[in-house]
Amino acid sequence: MTAAWVGMCCSKPPCLAVSLREATLTHGNIMRTKAFTVHIGTEKLAMETDYFGISTGRVTDKLADTGLTTTASKAVEAPLIEQYPLIIECRLQQVVEVGLHTQFIGEIIDVKADKAILGEKDLPDVDLLKPLVFSPVTRKYHGLGKTVGRAFQIGKKFKTKEE
Ligand SMILES: Cc1cc2nc3c(=O)[nH]c(=O)nc-3n(C[C@H](O)[C@H](O)[C@H](O)COP(=O)(O)O)c2cc1C
Repeated sequence: MTAAWVGMCCSKPPCLAVSLREATLTHGNIMRTKAFTVHIGTEKLAMETDYFGISTGRVTDKLADTGLTTTASKAVEAPLIEQYPLIIECRLQQVVEVGLHTQFIGEIIDVKADKAILGEKDLPDVDLLKPLVFSPVTRKYHGLGKTVGRAFQIGKKFKTKEE
């Protein structure tokens, strides 16, 4: 399924959190297997990524419908969709009932990155990955814009006190 409510939530151990409605098929799957994989949506896979969010695995085989293929993750009990260039494999660590959404916190056990999206120092490069940026208010997908500046650097302009 497609999920917008997802992000890193801890550095050590590295964890991410994803919030799903109980009504989704994926919610039950994660509760059962205690694992999940997060595939980063890309410009190239925008239509497939959208489709995964507007249809349910309860009534159709979304992989067969889109022609995408999977292999089993060796790290956790969850599939890897082969065509996605960046996949994060998580073991379920905590379940938080927030309200309409349940927040699943997963410890990152492994990451699969296609060579084609690796840049400097063999690290994933967003300019090569071309991730989708979702605007929930306008319900549109965007590409990334230009680099704005170096993180942990450009704010130094305002620093007057030693910490
Ligand atoms: C752009 C987009 C973002 C979405 N984000 C979420 C989300 O963060 N959490 C959620 O529960 N559903 C989200 N959805 C809806 C689910 O993807 C949708 O309910 C899906 O059909 C569930 O699939 P499943 O029943 O096969 O698990 C989103 C859908 C789209 C199109």
